[in-house]
Amino acid sequence: MQPVTTDQQARNLLIRPGTHQDLERLLRIEQDSYSAPWTRKMFEAELGGNPFGHLFTARLIHDGGGQEEPGEIVGYICFWVVFEELRLMNLAVAPSVRRQGIATQLVRYALAFGRDRGAVRADLEVRASNAAARRLYERLGFRQIAVRAKYYANPTEDAVLMERDLLRAEG
Ligand SMILES: CC(C)(COP(=O)(O)OP(=O)(O)OC[C@H]1O[C@@H](n2cnc3c(N)ncnc32)[C@H](O)[C@@H]1OP(=O)(O)O)[C@@H](O)C(=O)NCCC(=O)NCCS
Repeated sequence: MQPVTTDQQARNLLIRPGTHQDLERLLRIEQDSYSAPWTRKMFEAELGGNPFGHLFTARLIHDGGGQEEPGEIVGYICFWVVFEELRLMNLAVAPSVRRQGIATQLVRYALAFGRDRGAVRADLEVRASNAAARRLYERLGFRQIAVRAKYYANPTEDAVLMERDLLRAEG
């Protein structure tokens, strides 16, 4: 698949498929982002063995003396497209570059990718206390549809299940 550059809120962002070479950087961002981070094995499963799974990385493109050069990975998104459903599995952005629209671009990219492959709705689970992510998803058109009590461990917490229609233009 070809790399994609986006030029919306987060300018100069290069989004492309993750590879095994990216693992160390993905694990670093993951550990900086979650109280119960994904393990190396979990990333490896998404990068290799899962026919429904997709993982895309984002890099900021820097102007290196007139030439545009992609920097290191600053975020990633992992999702499954299973027939008509897109399920968001993981999303993280390095702490130093948050609030620059990178997650917004990654989610929009995933939604367009799923839509192109026939997905008609997207869903996800998020920790009830994760106000930043819940706000991000709401702004992208997701709505709360259920709460799963004590779904998460480390710490134990409810999951909020959110969903959005992919046939609407919103987000
Ligand atoms: C949640 C996360 C992915 C957001 O990444 P990001 O690149 O900073 O997000 P964006 O810049 O695209 O934010 C878009 C909007 O989401 C909301 N938002 C994002 N972070 C927020 C925060 N810390 N507090 C409040 N709202 C926030 C805002 O509405 C923001 O728009 P604004 O900056 O114009 O106000 C990032 O904070 C992260 O990696 N967190 C740890 C991992 C995680 O929680 N992942 C999601 C699991 S479901």
